[in-house]
Parts: sequence; C-alpha cells; structure tokens
Amino acid sequence: MLEFIFQGACNDIKKTSHKWQTPSNIALVKYWGKTHPQLPKNASISFTLNNCNTRTRIDFNKKQNNNSIEFEIFFEGKIKEEFKPKIADFFDRIKKYCPYIYDYRMVIYSENSFPHSSGIASSASGMSAIAMCIMNLEKDLNPNMKDSYLKQKASFLARLGSGSASRSIEGPLVVWGKHLDIAGSSDNYAIKFPYKTHPVFDNYQDCILIVDKGEKDVSSTLGHNLMHNHPFAEQRFKQANDNLKKISDILQNGNLKEFISLVESEALSLHAMMLTSNPYFVLMKPKTLEIINKIWNYRRENDSNICFTLDAGANVHLLYPLSEKKEVDFFIKSELLKFCQKNHYICDYTGSGSKKINS
Ligand code: DP6
Repeated sequence: MLEFIFQGACNDIKKTSHKWQTPSNIALVKYWGKTHPQLPKNASISFTLNNCNTRTRIDFNKKQNNNSIEFEIFFEGKIKEEFKPKIADFFDRIKKYCPYIYDYRMVIYSENSFPHSSGIASSASGMSAIAMCIMNLEKDLNPNMKDSYLKQKASFLARLGSGSASRSIEGPLVVWGKHLDIAGSSDNYAIKFPYKTHPVFDNYQDCILIVDKGEKDVSSTLGHNLMHNHPFAEQRFKQANDNLKKISDILQNGNLKEFISLVESEALSLHAMMLTSNPYFVLMKPKTLEIINKIWNYRRENDSNICFTLDAGANVHLLYPLSEKKEVDFFIKSELLKFCQKNHYICDYTGSGSKKINS
C-alpha cells in the first residue's frame, strides 16, 4: 500500500498532544478468518456504536535518538504493562507507514466508557483511537493532508492492530473487505456504506445484555487462526460474501423481516464455525441460549422486529428500530434482565464514528 507510506514532513513538531474518542462496533455480517497481514477472508459490515467507546490521548515529545519506538500506556489512570506487547506489535506493524513514530516518546492515556470487564471487546475502539491520534500527529507534520486521506489511512492502520478496528473510524454503517457489489470497498481499509439507507435504520438500537463479564476462553485472534484448514471455511467465506450483497439490498429497501433472518443467521453461523473448529470451542453460555429463545417467543407473540446478534463471546446484542424502543425496554426489564450478570446491560445505538476531543 504505497499510498499510505509517509512522504516526509513539512513542519517540525517538538511536542504535541491529541485526544480522540472512537466507538466500538457490532458486525452484522461477520469477519472470521484472515490472512497475513490482517487481511480478511470475506467482506464484513457493521453498525458503529455511539455510547460504547474509548477515549485516548497521546502526548508526543520529540526525543534525541530515533532508533527505537518508545511509549508508555496508562489505562484508566494506572500504568498497564500487560497492554504493552499488543501495542508494541501494533507500532511494529505500522512503523513502515508512519516512520515518524520513532522520533517521539509517546505517552498513551486511555479509558473506556464501558467497564473493561464487561465482555465487550475493546480492541476495535482501543486500536482505532490510537490510530486517530497517530494520524493527527501526521496531520501536524503535513497540514495539507485531506480529511478523507486521514480517515482512510487511520482505518488502514487500525486494521493492522485489530481487523474489526478498521470499522470504528466512521459510521453509522461501515464495510471492510473487497466486495464486487460495494463500490470502493477494500481489504486494506474500511469504507462508509456507500448507498442510501432506508430511514428505518436511522438510530438503530443495540442493547447489549451482559451475560458473562469474564475473560473469554479463546481469543478472537486464536479463533480466526482456526479457520485455516477448517472443513467449512470456504463455504463460510462464500456465505458471508453472499450475505453482504443481500444485506446491502436490505439496508436500502428497509425489509426488516429479511434483516432479522440474515443477521441472526450470521450470528449463529459465526458460532457454528467455533463449534466445528479443531480444536472446537463454545463461547455461548446457557443464558445466551435462554435469551435467544425468549427473543424468538417475544417476536412471535408481539409482531416485533427485535433480533439478536453475537460477537465472539456470550453477550447478546439486541437490535431493533428506534420506533420499538418503549416496548423493548419493557421486555428487557421484565423478561431478560434476570439473565444478565448483576442485572447489567448497556443501551446503545448507531453513531457516526471517531470524534476529536479538545483537551
Ligand atoms: C466475531 O477484529 O477482534 O467480532 O483482527 O484478530 O483483532 P483480530 O480480530 P477481531 O475479530 C472480530 C471478530 C468478530 C466479528 C466482527 O467483528 O466482524
């Protein structure tokens, strides 16, 4: 990706600081399976969230030597040595595109709007926030940079940290992965869904039921790797790409019944891949299945448009149109809360992506 290699600075910046807030996202068509360097085996699409986000400030101070990458990471006020290896790997992957990171000592201060131990993946919001701060430094060095280039390169960098992070720069609907039916799509970075969406999807609601706050038994990265030599891998990649074409049409025509059946099938197909990996593993919990059954009963009895999706964990994302919020709030409180760990759930909705915070 030659276009993302830094071409040299116009300005000499001794010291600067940037703070960005970037959101989490929830995939409707899932990314599961990748090749080196973080390239997806199929295209995916997600809703960008609004309330679940990471806020990260990076202080950049020019240093004397430029032969190593130096940084410190503070998470929610405390120094976090255990986060360092993942971020060091990230810097290692992006150094070719952002060689100026050798010139600065970086101190990273990060916090999440959601509890760290809620089972909500923070790699997407975390990595995309760092990518935006780095790109903001690049803009200081080269003030003529266009906003569109800044966001595209930020998505490209974020992808090298965590695949799904590429989809957290913009919103409310983002596609990552080359797909013939999605104009401008790329394996290298994510793009905003390029077509006009039906108004029923405006401010689409996502209520996350926290079923399990614990560390997952199998990380996403490990799960992706198990798609190599998976007996159903090729079929799955084809299914996901076919589903992306279908959901593109649905998002434009507003057919909620089709939306529900596609999104739920995607979630269950993702978990079917886990169940049939070698070694196999299960990330759903009994309460995940109880909630799913409750949703199906409720939908049948109330002619509702609520549906669920899952990421690589036990928590359930309830998706529904804004117009049904009142009824669904009541349903959650009366029937679903009892399945949530410590009655914990987070109500969110689609958002517009990364935001600069003036500190
Ligand atoms: C199930 O982006 O967390 O949430 O690229 O290894 O960091 P890495 O994986 P990650 O995988 C996300 C998997 C998923 C589906 C999705 O978000 O599309």
